[in-house]
Amino acid sequence: MTTFTAINLIKRPQSGVIDSSIFDVVEKQIPTIAPGQVLVKQNYMSLDPAMFGWMSSDTNSYIPPVALGDVMRSSGIGEVTVSNHPDFVVGDRVMGMMGWQEYFVSDGEGLNKVTAPLPDESILSVFALPGLTAVQGLFNVGKPKKGETLIVTGAAGSVGSIVGQLAKAEGLRVIGVVGSQEKADWIINELGFDAAINYKTDDLDAQLAAAAPDGIDLFFENTGGPIQHLIFDRINAHGRVVVCGLIADYHNEVPAAGPSWLNIIKRRITVQGFTMPDHFHQVPELLEKLTPYVMAGKIKHRTHLLNGLTSAIDGLNLFSTGANKGKLIVKL
Ligand SMILES: NC(=O)c1ccc[n+]([C@@H]2O[C@H](COP(=O)([O-])OP(=O)(O)OC[C@H]3O[C@@H](n4cnc5c(N)ncnc54)[C@H](OP(=O)(O)O)[C@@H]3O)[C@@H](O)[C@H]2O)c1
Repeated sequence: MTTFTAINLIKRPQSGVIDSSIFDVVEKQIPTIAPGQVLVKQNYMSLDPAMFGWMSSDTNSYIPPVALGDVMRSSGIGEVTVSNHPDFVVGDRVMGMMGWQEYFVSDGEGLNKVTAPLPDESILSVFALPGLTAVQGLFNVGKPKKGETLIVTGAAGSVGSIVGQLAKAEGLRVIGVVGSQEKADWIINELGFDAAINYKTDDLDAQLAAAAPDGIDLFFENTGGPIQHLIFDRINAHGRVVVCGLIADYHNEVPAAGPSWLNIIKRRITVQGFTMPDHFHQVPELLEKLTPYVMAGKIKHRTHLLNGLTSAIDGLNLFSTGANKGKLIVKL
């Protein structure tokens, strides 16, 4: 094979519409690599809600937007097929920001070898962004204590499901907010959450009261949406809010208004956002924290696999409908 497929972003999405009109699917020649470079065949590509932000024109964010005409940004896992780099040999399994393309040329910067004896899908679902985000957000930002009550939104998602299981392993009471009965059943019956609330049902405040009779100490926010205000009103004195994601707002021109700051004073609440690129230099220590929980069988996951590079385009919409069941990954 001398050519491969890549997908470039050519337009910014309008009103959250993600379809083939904003991308250009192109065929490229497999390049000859220069000294100091490697050629990687990407095997699995991660889809992430962060992509909505990367496609926007917002330059005042933690990472620059993808430039129009460039390959769409993503992380992935693959295999070195040609190496002119002293640190890599043919056959090395590697992970990095490879983009929406089947082949990727790298000078080695940001390319990490994967040695764990686990399938590629498990690496991307647990030991890549989801697990690292869960550990950084829960432990380093949220500072959980045994006996506290934690609530996590997007609880059946790739980040939220790991946050809840880590918190359970630490002896917290864990409540998950999800968008379907199937996801509620999964987090309770399979993952061991103490309670689940489907935010698409009624009487959310009464459900919160029943699920968190002692109030909420730690709120791990992945989604935003109307339940955010109800949760915030039930946070205890010295509670913490870990702001990881607000997917309900990613397509809105004007984000929803947040809860009043009055309770931040009255209940001495700490609200802190974080983004993982600030913590990529801490990956070894984050993995060191995560690995024992996984080895002890305390972290289950599910992977939602799509087939073929172009499935990424429609696949992104699964995040918004909630139709993804677990970590969304494209098999190339
Ligand atoms: N700060 C960071 O560095 C960082 C890193 C990774 C991820 N994140 C953020 O963490 C969040 C979760 O990411 P993920 O990769 O684990 O995705 P995910 O939870 O696997 O998928 C997104 C889920 O969000 C829920 N959702 C969609 N629209 C919603 C709405 N309007 N209101 C409430 N829930 C909605 C859906 O689940 P339901 O069916 O339950 O509605 C959907 O399945 C995202 O906001 C993401 O941007 C942040």
